[in-house]
Amino acid sequence: MDSVEPAGLEPGARAPSCPQKGILQPSDSSELECLQQFKVTKIQLQQIQASLLGSMEQALMREASLAPGVRMLPTYVGSTPHGNEQGNFVVLELGASGASLRILWVTLTGIKGQRVEPKSQEFVIPQEVVQGTGQQLFDFAARCLVEFLDAHSVGNQGLQLGFSFSFPCHQTGLDRSTLISWTKGFRCSGVEGQDVVQLLRDAIQRQGAYSIDVVAVVNDTVGTMMDCEPGVGPCEIGLVVDTGTNACYMEEARHVAVLDEDRGRTCVSIEWGSFSDDKALGPVLTAFDHALDQASLNPGAQRFEKMIGGLYLGELVRLVLVHLAQNRVLFGGYTSPALLSQGSILLEHVTEMEDPSTGVVCVHTVLQDLGLNPEASDAELVQRVCVAVCSRAAQLCAAALAAVLSHLQRSREQQTLQVAVATGGRVLERHPRFHSILQETVKLLASECDVSFIPSVDGGGRGVAMVTAVAARLAKHRRLLEETLAPFRLSREQLEAVQTQMREAMAKGLQREPSSLRMLPTYVRATPDGSERGDFLALDLGGTNFRVLLVRVAEGGVQIINQVYSIPECVAQGSGQQLFDHIVDCIVDFQQKQGLRGQSLPLGFTFSFPCKQLGLDQGILLNWTKGFNASGCEGQDVVHLLREAIRRRQAVELNVVAIVNDTVGTMMSCGYEDPRCEMGLIVGTGTNACYMEELRNVAGVAGDSGHMCINMEWGAFGDDGSLGMLSTCFDVRVDQASINPGKQRFEKMISGMYLGEIVRHILLHLTSLGVLFRGQQTQRLQTRDIFKTKFLSEIESDSLALRQVRAILEDLGLPLTSDDALIVLEVCQAVSRRAAQLCGAGVAAVVEKIRENRGLEELTVSVGVDGTLYKVHPHFASLVAATVRELAPRCVVTFLQSEDGSGKGAALVTAVACRLAQMARV
Ligand code: BG6
Ligand code: GLC
Ligand code: GLC
Repeated sequence: MDSVEPAGLEPGARAPSCPQKGILQPSDSSELECLQQFKVTKIQLQQIQASLLGSMEQALMREASLAPGVRMLPTYVGSTPHGNEQGNFVVLELGASGASLRILWVTLTGIKGQRVEPKSQEFVIPQEVVQGTGQQLFDFAARCLVEFLDAHSVGNQGLQLGFSFSFPCHQTGLDRSTLISWTKGFRCSGVEGQDVVQLLRDAIQRQGAYSIDVVAVVNDTVGTMMDCEPGVGPCEIGLVVDTGTNACYMEEARHVAVLDEDRGRTCVSIEWGSFSDDKALGPVLTAFDHALDQASLNPGAQRFEKMIGGLYLGELVRLVLVHLAQNRVLFGGYTSPALLSQGSILLEHVTEMEDPSTGVVCVHTVLQDLGLNPEASDAELVQRVCVAVCSRAAQLCAAALAAVLSHLQRSREQQTLQVAVATGGRVLERHPRFHSILQETVKLLASECDVSFIPSVDGGGRGVAMVTAVAARLAKHRRLLEETLAPFRLSREQLEAVQTQMREAMAKGLQREPSSLRMLPTYVRATPDGSERGDFLALDLGGTNFRVLLVRVAEGGVQIINQVYSIPECVAQGSGQQLFDHIVDCIVDFQQKQGLRGQSLPLGFTFSFPCKQLGLDQGILLNWTKGFNASGCEGQDVVHLLREAIRRRQAVELNVVAIVNDTVGTMMSCGYEDPRCEMGLIVGTGTNACYMEELRNVAGVAGDSGHMCINMEWGAFGDDGSLGMLSTCFDVRVDQASINPGKQRFEKMISGMYLGEIVRHILLHLTSLGVLFRGQQTQRLQTRDIFKTKFLSEIESDSLALRQVRAILEDLGLPLTSDDALIVLEVCQAVSRRAAQLCGAGVAAVVEKIRENRGLEELTVSVGVDGTLYKVHPHFASLVAATVRELAPRCVVTFLQSEDGSGKGAALVTAVACRLAQMARV
């Protein structure tokens, strides 16, 4: 079969003497010629199908500008109904059925198959409103709402509204939608380019009678698709032929270029009414189509819709009748003023006139109402005109639907696509043959697809309610998320308070008064002056890695050879003897590998834990922090423990010259490059800072002039309860589950060892609220430390799209939706932002103190920084700097990232000590 009913032309042939561009010529007078023009061949339909398919795929890939046509607008509806949506919803429909507006009260029971008949009311929109101002239109809608709600006495409690707005819109969320352009008979001023949800909200507020939450906005096709009763297989296409025509369907998100998403599906509104490829449509456009287009409100636009939509079918029939009458083929050449008036034949008339049983009678009535006096032959011809116009419409609609089916079949790589199409709209519902022609033609054009058509029950109202239910759930989730994260969002006042408290604690600590800041003297009095020389060994214990280093300080600079060794958790938390034996074993291994056996090089020991130093080479471990808890060490001199282990091993000779905190090592290391570096900062596994303090301010160390580096041990800030106001329930949980509850409270809000855990606890909480993972708790997420801090850095990295967030979490065995991914991202951002700001408040306190110590109006200072979190996190460093700028405006602070770790600094401290010792000997 090559032609489709009612066809007759050879493939590709044009109608004989087909009138061009709106000029109806006398030679077209015969009825045959007129009706021929509405016939479409199978090949023409296939061309339309192929062209539309191309246009759809280009628009998906954002190449729409190359091909005029369909828009492919994402709708933010991500899944077809689950069937468990429930609640009462108000639905307001505008734009589907001509100049009327429908309001429904829909109850969703949450039980599959259980439907409650919605209450609904239709309102006719006066013509002056349809083409008046936007405010008039939305005020009218709001007035109708009030009238409806008054009449149905539904109360004024928590009314949630779904807005079905059937015009092409750019949606940027479920409740944000900008009208691109009016279609069909609408042309209200001041609405194009505006968010129609906001316009409706404003109008409802102007009425003042009800408090209504406009939760979602959807296209009528989406409402139709969502209305499809779940259970009959996936209904993934919504087709509407009403005043206008359009379809939506579920697309793979990765095919939609405008979406930053590669998993799952999203509903796309095709807006095929605007399809306008001249090559494909040209051969089927008649002079009547051109005339209709020219006289329409939007000439040149929506050309495809104008051949199919119910707003235009009656008008096309009228134009043909006028033409035939004027050419004396109809009504004896007589036309009436009514027949000559635009819009005098409506879709209803056409539908009635085509009715197989009552049609003939109806034709007489309709024509008589138009002031005509038809004969029997006239009536028959009028019917044939209606059939020709409507058959073509149904066939064109089928070609468009076939394009969608081909696309789905192609993109899903399925041999036979099985799909259900939800249908709605008055043309499909009421026209006696439209539906059957559509079905037959689809079968012909997409023979490999198994399509079932499912009429929507209440014009998509329930579907809109479903989307509204989902949107309402999402809005509730957002509220809960905001509430959960609110305590992490610190105000400027809160940060200033942290800075002030830090200053007070610093002063007390320096004076040896009770304070959570220990302010430990380090016996480092000077930064390197560049004249240091020699080979040194260094150890670096307490960060992510344990390292042994050989540091050569020479004229040309510093050369480092280092090796990383692991410290198993059982060693870090075993006995002190085991730990120090292990350290010595590593040193022996390193010496062997480097050919250093038998040499006794001066050694600097970076030991990144709080130590009370009595001299440069004596440090009593006050308490373990981070993940260490080796027994028998607290209260002991760490250098002594190391020497003991060396003695036990009898394998090496070592000359331990200095013990150095990592903050000090970092400051010294950066100080070698920049003499302005007077502060060291670590944000890694733990966090801490040191800085150069005036010796006169340091109680307990002899001497009044000069400086001494102070290891603040700020990780313990707040251990006296002073940070209680900032501590959230999640901080409390992390603290309680740690090996040192109640200790290192500041560190536990900032550093890498804890941020992942804070995030994990928040995710658990959000899951329990049903906000995440559909409320399903997983064993994985309940596993301690499963959420590493490095994930925060990866998740927040701008170069990684949301799709990577999902990949990271899925690797963890946490399968999530795109909504979940967004929530996880926000949680990470809130936690790391607070950490960076608290750290910034600490730095501000320190630099301000240095400035005041020196009585300077303005201080220029550098801070040497190290630590994985600071270095790897995409925003941490800039947030710290921004906070410091705000809280310490009189300090110009430069942050220098230490490249070689604190080991180099420890070697430099050792080198300085050796230099000074040598000078003393001289
Ligand atoms: C390194 C030091 O530079 O930074 C370590 O050499 C220190 O001693 C570390 O502890 C901090 O970073 P992290 O991320 O390894 O804890
Ligand atoms: C018009 C609108 C479209 C709507 C269709 C059916 O084409 O632009 O949004 O879906 O009519 O009502
Ligand atoms: C912990 C230690 C501290 C160290 C910091 C950074 O807070 O107690 O000494 O500087 O971690 O590693």
